[in-house]
Amino acid sequence: MQKRALITGITGQDGSYLAEFLLDEGYEVVGMVRRSSTVTFERIAHIQDRITLVAGDLLDEVSLIGILREHRPAEVYNLAAQSFVQTSWGQPVLTGETTALGVTRVLDAIRMVDPEIRFYQASSSEMFGKVREVPQVESTPFYPRSPYGVAKVYGHWITVNYRESYGLHASSGILFNHESPRRGLEFVTRKVTHGVARIACGLDEKLHLGNLDAQRDWGFAGDYVRAMWLMLQRDEPEDYVVATGETHSVKELCEVAFAQAGLDWSEHVVIDERFLRPAEVDLLVGDPGRAQKELGWERTVDFSALVTMMVDADLELVRRSMG
Ligand code: NAP
Ligand code: GDD
Repeated sequence: MQKRALITGITGQDGSYLAEFLLDEGYEVVGMVRRSSTVTFERIAHIQDRITLVAGDLLDEVSLIGILREHRPAEVYNLAAQSFVQTSWGQPVLTGETTALGVTRVLDAIRMVDPEIRFYQASSSEMFGKVREVPQVESTPFYPRSPYGVAKVYGHWITVNYRESYGLHASSGILFNHESPRRGLEFVTRKVTHGVARIACGLDEKLHLGNLDAQRDWGFAGDYVRAMWLMLQRDEPEDYVVATGETHSVKELCEVAFAQAGLDWSEHVVIDERFLRPAEVDLLVGDPGRAQKELGWERTVDFSALVTMMVDADLELVRRSMG
């Protein structure tokens, strides 16, 4: 029988890759979208005729219960969130309502409608924040450094708690930064690759950035959605770190991205205080050992291939927009 999955956050970067992946696996895909005065389906336009979109919001539990009752998915992937760290200082309550309490609303809806549903929670390496050990593993203590990180810690523990309290098949993926040509323009990788493309095409001269010393473990989003699915195929629910095991600074990201377009980053990058954060996460690097061993998960794209992919895609995008 064809399996049905519900994805919250299907219009986001990860939602679009996961929907593609599940369709390829033969799933019927239901995607939850929130009401907006303008349609934001760019990332899923190419698969829209193969998926079912339903209206709902993580802020509204009745809508979640209604969707589960009507569509009866076997698996729920909770990817929806206010996901931009910088915004979480300006909108801490909204971030908490969505990224923290939103998880409880989905879990409660599952518990009420069908506790057999398997649940994936999009946890984050931001929970490690001011890191207590290097590299970070599943047992590394959390020390979040932003309202977003704090909200994700809540979402993580409520997932563990509902698993232990009600026996739900609920798993949490502690995913390190993952990027792609579909990444939102405000995140640093895409900001840099899109900025490089605009400079290479003569549309801009400078790129304004914040802390160039921050280090991240950057992987490819297409690889990471496979890990989400693998977690829900296990007999027992469990939490996994998903990462590449390598870390690179924002400065290195700039070097590689500008060089890909034949440019010298130091001639174009300007440090701009507006992009510095009240509290920074200086270094993230994950150890994906458990995911490799128990899920058989491996990444297929390394850092330089990822940056090259993103710069090439943005060069094409910017050139096309210029006609
Ligand atoms: P993203 O591109 O920002 O997508 C977020 C999605 O959440 C969008 O579809 C958005 O809908 C939806 N959303 C926001 N508020 C909502 C609400 N109140 N109700 C329903 N939907 C709502 O994020 P992403 O990069 O794909 O990340 C997916 C998940 O993984 C997020 O939970 C993120 O925090 C987490 N995560 C991401 C990374 C990473 O590096 N990408 C790493 C670890 C964890 P609209 O299109 O309408 O805005
Ligand atoms: N966005 C942004 N813009 N970041 C900048 C800039 C800039 O101009 N200049 C430097 N940075 C630094 C940030 O200070 C941060 O240390 C790093 O680049 C990465 O920033 P983001 O790309 O915004 O990602 P993030 O690490 O804060 O959060 C992302 O990854 C998390 C997983 O660790 C998001 O996708 C989160 O949703 C996710 O949970």
